[in-house]
Amino acid sequence: MQDVIDLTVTPLSDACGAEIKGVDVTRPLSQRTVQAIKHAWAKHLVLVFRGQAITQDQQLAFASYFGDLGNRKKAPETLRSRAEGILQDNEKVLLVSNIKVDGQPIGAFGEGEFWFHIDSGYTARPYKYTFLHALELPSTGGNTKFSNMYKAYEALPAALKQGLTGKKALHLHEYKRSEKADISGDFSGIPHHYHPVFITHPETGRKSLFVDRLMTALIDGMPANESSAILEQLYEIGERREFIYEHVWQLGDFLMWDNRCTIHARTDFPKHERRLLRRCTVQGEPLFE
Ligand code: SIN
Repeated sequence: MQDVIDLTVTPLSDACGAEIKGVDVTRPLSQRTVQAIKHAWAKHLVLVFRGQAITQDQQLAFASYFGDLGNRKKAPETLRSRAEGILQDNEKVLLVSNIKVDGQPIGAFGEGEFWFHIDSGYTARPYKYTFLHALELPSTGGNTKFSNMYKAYEALPAALKQGLTGKKALHLHEYKRSEKADISGDFSGIPHHYHPVFITHPETGRKSLFVDRLMTALIDGMPANESSAILEQLYEIGERREFIYEHVWQLGDFLMWDNRCTIHARTDFPKHERRLLRRCTVQGEPLFE
């Protein structure tokens, strides 16, 4: 059993992110260690453990210290073959990968850029936490960028804050990764949910901006052009350089982040180079302003 005595927390940017040293994520943790990690997490939003050799079972066991594990979301039938990788044999695990075997994707989210998003923000209970472990990496790119949405909320002009208080936004699952969700047709068959534009983080009590460029489709009860203009303004604030920590992956990195107060994106990487990360999540709860 590990105790907190050796745990150190080193901030990685002014925006968010901290490296944790002194924890072996493959071993059982004491309550004190879990509390120390939670404390650092609430403060830094994204935690990085370097040089971890962690099996799937160990990853799931570690994540379970922070809540009930989330299941992979089922894609609509038409997209099932793209979303259900052939090596994704555990419903709690998603392989983030561009690797194909016999022409079949082994996992999901393939190649290329991925716009800023919230994991499963289009559901009624978006994942609280995501845990991602790097197994194979391209020679360059494929960095994951995290933006601090508490800071984004705090930076909003007062009039915008006031005008959007009490408003909800529609979050719609978009499978194309770097294209805006299309709401021109019937989207009843696409997973979607309305969440407050501003949420109160259930544990820290802090207000956070809860929209993202990829999957937020509109602000409810607003004319379409006004909604688009305001959302664009919110995305620009949410994606300001000073709110972002960009993680350049190394093999063995293990990251954990809080989806209620961060959005994340991926930079492009060479198509022909393999990238494989193992993801698991902790189930969330309904979100309120
Ligand atoms: C994700 O959005 O869960 C994956 C991020 C990445 O591929 O870096």
